[in-house]
Amino acid sequence: MKFQRQLQIVSFFFIALINPAYSDVAKGKELSASCVACHGVNGISLNPVWPKLAGQNPKYLAAQLYEFKKGPDGNRNNAVMYGIAMTLSDSDINNLSDYYASLKPTVGVVKDDYLELGRNIYRGGNMDIKMQACISCHGPNGQGNYAAAIPMLSGQHSQYTYQQLKNFQISTRSNDYNKMMRNIVHRMTDEEMKAVASYIEGLY
Ligand code: HEC
Ligand code: HEC
Repeated sequence: MKFQRQLQIVSFFFIALINPAYSDVAKGKELSASCVACHGVNGISLNPVWPKLAGQNPKYLAAQLYEFKKGPDGNRNNAVMYGIAMTLSDSDINNLSDYYASLKPTVGVVKDDYLELGRNIYRGGNMDIKMQACISCHGPNGQGNYAAAIPMLSGQHSQYTYQQLKNFQISTRSNDYNKMMRNIVHRMTDEEMKAVASYIEGLY
């Protein structure tokens, strides 16, 4: 028994040593003190223009922080997040991403007026304009795809989601590999974006 325990401890440190991606959730929590003002306690932001981070895919979170860190030279330039990300080291980014990924997400509600249109777009797309359904990449419950770093959408504030769709449409956000999002949104109307964003807020 005792030997097994020692072996466990030794292998734990060994893994930490040889694995550069090893991260420390407790350290991430400590660092998150400088994020709480906007992203909320436990990664649930109260202001709907700031994204919830709780339960988000850690690879996706890290990729966004690296993108913000590039500032005006990057493909997701945001003045506020640039100022913050530029102070973070690689290990800070790992620790913060794993910390936020470990938290429990929350879900909101869909506005009645948007339920039908939102659901149709999310689940069926719009064949008239050759728009692929969101479900094919973000999944039936909006959980995203872990391995492909496709973000979870479930429960996200609709105002934030709408703004990101808009950003992809006008290409102020262009960090989507292979134009995956820009190709989807480029012919969407404002009303369609608002409807699908509302649908996503209540999706789980
Ligand atoms: C002053 C407010 C503020 C603070 C403090 C802040 N953020 Fe943000 N964060 C934002 C805003 C605004 C956005 C949306 C940017 C955009 O529209 O592209 C954002 C976006 C993000 C995203 C992208 C989320 C997604 O779903 O794509 C991540 C990741 C993130 N922040 C992490 C952090 C971390 C980690 C910290 C602390 C080290 C932090 N933020 C501190 C305001 C803030
Ligand atoms: C072909 C695959 C694909 C399809 C279809 C797709 N997405 Fe995405 N989506 C992605 C990828 C990949 C990203 C991450 C881009 C990045 O790394 O910044 C993303 C990112 C997003 C984001 C940003 C999330 C955040 O936290 O900032 C939103 C919002 C979004 N998608 C909504 C939608 C909606 C709504 C639809 C349907 C109308 C849709 N997506 C269809 C692949 C897809």
